[in-house]
Amino acid sequence: MNYFMGIDVSTTGSKALLIDLSGNVIGVQSFPHNLSNPKPLWSEQDPLEWWDATIKSIQSVLKSTGIKPESITAIGLTGQMHGLVLLDEMGNVLRPAILWNDQRTQAQCDEIHARFGKERFIQITGNVSLTGFTASKILWVAENEPDVYAKVKHILLPKDYIRFRLTCEFGMDKADGSGTVLFDLQKRTWSEEILSTLEIPRDWMPQTYEGPEFTGVVSKTASMTTGLAINTPVAAGGGDQAAQAVGVGAVSPGIIGLTVGTSGVIFAATPSALIEPEGRLHAFCHAVPGMWHFMGVMLSAAGSLQWYRDTLAKDLSFDELLEEAKQVSAGSEGLQFLPYLSGERTPHPDPLARGAFIGLTLRHQRGHMTRSVLEGVSFGLKDSFILIQNAGLEKIDQIRASGGGTKNALWRQILASTLNSELVTVNTTEGAAFGAALLAGVGAGAWKDVITACNQTIKITGHTSPDPMQVEVYQKSYEIYKALYPVLKDSFEKMNLQFGY
Ligand code: XUL
Repeated sequence: MNYFMGIDVSTTGSKALLIDLSGNVIGVQSFPHNLSNPKPLWSEQDPLEWWDATIKSIQSVLKSTGIKPESITAIGLTGQMHGLVLLDEMGNVLRPAILWNDQRTQAQCDEIHARFGKERFIQITGNVSLTGFTASKILWVAENEPDVYAKVKHILLPKDYIRFRLTCEFGMDKADGSGTVLFDLQKRTWSEEILSTLEIPRDWMPQTYEGPEFTGVVSKTASMTTGLAINTPVAAGGGDQAAQAVGVGAVSPGIIGLTVGTSGVIFAATPSALIEPEGRLHAFCHAVPGMWHFMGVMLSAAGSLQWYRDTLAKDLSFDELLEEAKQVSAGSEGLQFLPYLSGERTPHPDPLARGAFIGLTLRHQRGHMTRSVLEGVSFGLKDSFILIQNAGLEKIDQIRASGGGTKNALWRQILASTLNSELVTVNTTEGAAFGAALLAGVGAGAWKDVITACNQTIKITGHTSPDPMQVEVYQKSYEIYKALYPVLKDSFEKMNLQFGY
């Protein structure tokens, strides 16, 4: 019997998953990571903790399934994107990794745009330089920690540090490579112009590979530490969003991936390196060889609901809260929620944006507030959906919904009515780790390509259609929602000046 392993190094923990040749999940184990916020706007993790949690996940999935390490044909990697890992000549970690949700680098983003001109930067990388992406983090270390910077010899992303520990090789997949915004999007490789202008030595950057390509094999030391068989091939895999898209089958144009996890994502595969001219959408390489994708990212999606419940309704379960919201009519009687609790990326790249309830009256109860959170997040996702449609992808055949938030029928209904499109759910619920395992399987020749792997393993399990009455209400409510951020932007800035970061 052949098995494939997917390893996901996410922000919350590391996970190891095993699938068989039919795509059945045979076992999953994960261990948590700590997150450190040593200063306002900072978000860091210790790469050694990722490795520790990965070792434990691998050992425990091997133990719980009883699968022999030799029957694992290949391993695929995925993980949180954009996080900066700096290593010295010997491969030692030089400082904590600066993560995707770290917001300290606005000055460096402005500097990058000033050096290239924003338009030229978008032309090459497909993106603006955002605080979340990797490029500005490198400049920040150069400017603020010159002693650390002087020792840098290798730059990696989170899952590629795990690759290094597993295989002793420096490698990266092209999806994650493009998420550094040091990439030439069209050419799917490092941009000499970007690297030289930012004075980042080319030899610090690892070789990049297409998602299913093998990048090395499990070393003797890693085999002893993890229990994996020596020489097991390790495929490139993909950054978590690209691997998640593989994991739900959003691998061809027309199939949109919608994920409502802590963050919210609308993901669309594109056949060429399409760019949104103002860089409001992220444009990266897909984990599918020779494909690209657009993506809109909302920073607090189900994260908004989590915050709301933890802060205002601690004693209620999510089911109880959402049951109250169900009793409220669409539009929450005019109450609006802006989901910018951690700043925002799409469509407003603004680390200083804040969340808000707007339109409260004495009539509003907790059910209205809960419903307006679900609606506000859905409206924010509609912003990305419209940007994607306007960027040349009018023909949308199907939206595949995944992530914790879409498990709830009410939220799925609100999303379907807001987007005025049918949503489908699929049988695969392990997202990025599952996608990484499929990529490993394709690399090993179990399936001829990624699309075939998805077709043979992923099945539609449910449909949610828009409700015509809700559609009408939400069209009007969305127009009001859309007008709120522009009028509040200056106030958010002033709040941050007064009390802020
Ligand atoms: C994508 C992004 C997040 C992280 C964390 O651009 O920043 O999805 O990858 O999961």
